[in-house]
Amino acid sequence: SSDYRVKLVEVGPRDGLQNEKNSIPLATKLDLIDRLAKTGLTTIEAGSFVSPKWVPQMENSSEILQHLLTKPPSSPHPLTFSFLAPNLKGLNNAFSVLSQHPTAFATESFPAQPTKPALEIAVFASATESFSQRNLNASIAASLAGFRQVIQAAKDTHSLRVRGYISVVLGCPFEGYDVSPHRVAEVATALLEMGADEIALGDTTGMGTAPRTKELLACLAAAGVRNEDVAMHFHDTYGQALVNTAVALEHGIRTFDCSVGGLGGCPYSPGATGNVATEDMVYFMETLGMDTGVDLDAVVDVGEWITREIGKGNASTVGKAVLGA
Ligand code: HMG
Ligand code: MG
Repeated sequence: SSDYRVKLVEVGPRDGLQNEKNSIPLATKLDLIDRLAKTGLTTIEAGSFVSPKWVPQMENSSEILQHLLTKPPSSPHPLTFSFLAPNLKGLNNAFSVLSQHPTAFATESFPAQPTKPALEIAVFASATESFSQRNLNASIAASLAGFRQVIQAAKDTHSLRVRGYISVVLGCPFEGYDVSPHRVAEVATALLEMGADEIALGDTTGMGTAPRTKELLACLAAAGVRNEDVAMHFHDTYGQALVNTAVALEHGIRTFDCSVGGLGGCPYSPGATGNVATEDMVYFMETLGMDTGVDLDAVVDVGEWITREIGKGNASTVGKAVLGA
């Protein structure tokens, strides 16, 4: 039944790579996306239209988008590619690529098909004022006012799907555990009211625990946020991501973010490590009888390849076990 179907959002090419010090060649990024698309993953966060002064590693996101429109990875099912866009400047940088290829991506008038990817943009708010300042140089209220314009333009101009992240929902590098779930619910409700199609709850620091995850989801439900509109984005800094995933699954959430090889970390969250590894997530879902549509062995191979390619240790426990490493 569809209750056993889980959607995994692969964030490795964006969240996984954004914090890498050495510049990763465009060809490697494109190769990574191509390999991920062949594992059965359907939704891939591919880049970020942020300021290159803030996050230099994401500077070639226009080239990535251009490539995905002109030479989309071959896949048996429709793919969705997502890009972060914090403001109209970033959105317009994405639009200048889209306007060169107006029929290369699926919209309401050009439905999704295997050869034509759908596109999504993601805005990213924060649950605390101090993280909002560090990550966006703006208060929560000012960032939300900007996102309203970004969401409206994304929908009006190209009918794009929009994801609204909220960072530090279970712990903040500057305010500790002092994050109010009611504040998270307020920001989520504001983003949904502006037209966001999905809220991704970011445990940026990996400080989330099972009871706090349960409390947060209960608070969102009480505020009227529907499970089908929520995705969980767990970083695994304290090794609690799969425990928290189990809590969210039991609550009824069916969309989860993960990063191949456990790559990643946020440049404005000191010490935070990567997202829960895609390999670990796929394995965990399989043990529960949930259907991810992702081939575990294939994604293990991608994790081993990309971590070697960029000179990092493979941070996936399952990946290492499968490989006998
Ligand atoms: P600002 O400095 O306040 O921006 O930064 P500004 O409007 O004052 O502009 C300053 C300069 O940046 C100008 O250039 C702009 O044109 C340029 P100049 O005139 O000086 O030459 N600029 C841009 N250039 C390219 N693309 C843009 C853009 N915007 C301005 N979009 C800003 C404000 C939002 C731009 C900045 O704070 C920023 O880029 N922040 C991004 C931070 C970031 O990427 N963080 C990581 C992603 S979020 C994350 O990882 C969390 C997540 O995974 C969930 C979770 O785990 O919690 C999603
Ligand atoms: Mg993140």
